[in-house]
Formats: sequence, C-alpha cells, structure tokens
Amino acid sequence: MPPSCLIRDHDITALSAFHTPAKARYYFEILDQSALEHLREIYEFSIHEHLPIIFIARGTNFLFAFDVFPGIIIRFDIRGYTLDGWILTVQAWELVSLTSQKIYTEHKNSHLIPWVWLPGTWGGAIAGNAGWFGLEAKDFLLDVAIYDMARWTHETWTREQCLFAYRTSKLKAQSQRLILSARFDLGAIVENPYMEMSLAEFMSVRREKQPAGHTCGSFFKNPPWESAGRLIDAVGLKWTRIGWAKISEVHANFFMNDEHGTFQDILALRDLAKKTIQESYKITLEEEVRIISVK
Ligand code: EPU
Repeated sequence: MPPSCLIRDHDITALSAFHTPAKARYYFEILDQSALEHLREIYEFSIHEHLPIIFIARGTNFLFAFDVFPGIIIRFDIRGYTLDGWILTVQAWELVSLTSQKIYTEHKNSHLIPWVWLPGTWGGAIAGNAGWFGLEAKDFLLDVAIYDMARWTHETWTREQCLFAYRTSKLKAQSQRLILSARFDLGAIVENPYMEMSLAEFMSVRREKQPAGHTCGSFFKNPPWESAGRLIDAVGLKWTRIGWAKISEVHANFFMNDEHGTFQDILALRDLAKKTIQESYKITLEEEVRIISVK
C-alpha cells in the first residue's frame, strides 16, 4: 500500500520551466521541516515497489520527457536565508534570484548581482554547479548540509567533497542524498564588471542577451572553448519552429515553449540542433537540461 501522504496522478506541468504537459503517478510536497519525517516511509515504499524518485524544487533545468512519470515526484519548498558578515546561509529551496536581489537591496552588498536573474534554487545551483555571468557556485561555496536517505544521516560536505566540474557535481542526479542548506562566503567572489552595475543596468544587459518565457535557459553545455549558442546561431537555426516550440531568436541555445508545446517538440528541436552541429562542425553537443525519460 502506498503511504497515505502520497497524492496519486498529480499534474506536474508547472513544475518544469518548459511547461510541457506531464503527470506523476505519485506526488508529495514538503512545505516545512515537519513534512521531512514522511521521507522514510516514502523511500521504503519506493524501494519495495522499485519506483524511481525525483526531487524537484523549481524545475528550472528539467524537461519531463513522459506523459506520466511512473514513480514518485517529491517537491520541496522550504525557504529562508541569513547573512552574517560575508557568510550567507541558505535553505536549499530558497530562490537564488530572490536572495541575490535582497542581498543587494536590503544588505547593500553587490557581490551577488551577477546571479540576480539566475533561475532556480540554491540546491539546484549547487548540484549543477550553476554558472551565470562569470560566477560559478563552486567559486564561493563553503559547505553543504545533506540528508542521506539511504542511511538516515545528516552530513556536512566540504566544497572539495562535492567534486565540482563544469555544470556538474557529485550531488547531481542522485535521489539518495538531499541538499538541505549551504553556506557561502560572499567575500570569496572575485570582482567582476557586473558588480558595478545597478539592478536596472544589469537587467537590460540580460534582456538583450537572453529571452524570457517557458524555457530552461541553456539547453546544451558549451563545448570546450566554444559557445553552443554561437554554433546553433551560425548554422542558421534561430527562429526554427517545430510544433509549438522554437529556438529563440535572442539566444540560439534557449529553446522556448510557446504555451502548447510538448516534450516531443522540444526533443525534435534538440535532435535537429545536435545533428546539424555534428554534421557542420563534427562537435557532439551535450545537454545541460536534465531530460527525465521513462522506459
Ligand atoms: N552568441 C551568438 N549567438 C547566439 C548566442 C550567443 O553568436 O544566439 C555568441 C555571443 O555573441 C557571445 C558567445 O556566443 O560571443 C557567448 O554567448 P553568451 O555570452 O550568451 O554566453 P553563453 O556561453 O551562450 C553562458 C551560460 C549561460 C550564462 C551566460 C552568461 C552555458 C551553457 N551557458 O552562455 O548560462 O547565463 O554564459 O554568463 O554555460 C544556463 O546555464 O542556463 C545559462 C543560461
């Protein structure tokens, strides 16, 4: 029997920034610390029934490549942060953009300006080693508080233990370890030109370079010493539309869902871009967006 806290056949369309239609067979939402106590029964049920689990917060880097996820989607939404001198402590589900703005407007500290419009949560930014306008998570992370769901232990990992690399870490794509909170040293952020800008100036730079809408940001990782956006632009694929999805005319590494797009539309654009870049440049583009597919 599934734990009674699980909701069946829940619509999760709005949980991916692409907004393609999708459902989950089982769904659970954690809105406060007390809900964490249900994790054990949910985890044991998943092992018993061989059900995959996916943790999700804002879904800013997920494409749901299924109609119904045949497992359990667990969504977290516990927020909050504190700033003590240069040390920022954040709950994993706090939005990066919101914290970064408050650090500037309320604490008068400009070091996080480059991250003011970074979509997603701190937990996601750590797991994927997010990089945005010259600043990467690994550059100023001190340590991460983790909950290990297989051993039911709380652990603290140092930056070195996270094994950060370009857009990845040891914490990416695993359902056993949950990031709860993290500490960052804002003083470790190296000076960059965006810190000198006002919020309005930085916003206009961003608007000029990147589109807004139902998108997960960069679809592909940048190949070594190259920009995926530049390559896709150079082969003339900007504006390409398949179904209700298109390659943005503002930035060619941004795939957009125009309201009614499906995951098949986005994957068809992905296939077209990969094939064209392979043929034109002999470069294999690798996805940055996490594509969740089912067998
Ligand atoms: N370019 C084009 N055409 C395009 C897009 C870009 O010619 O359609 C050229 C630009 O003119 C520039 C170069 O390509 O000369 C690099 O473009 P950009 O500065 O936009 O940076 P990017 O490498 O495409 C990376 C990150 C972004 C991050 C920006 C700014 C990756 C995959 N992407 O983009 O991250 O916001 O730098 O720091 O590393 C994300 O991860 O979701 C994301 C948006």
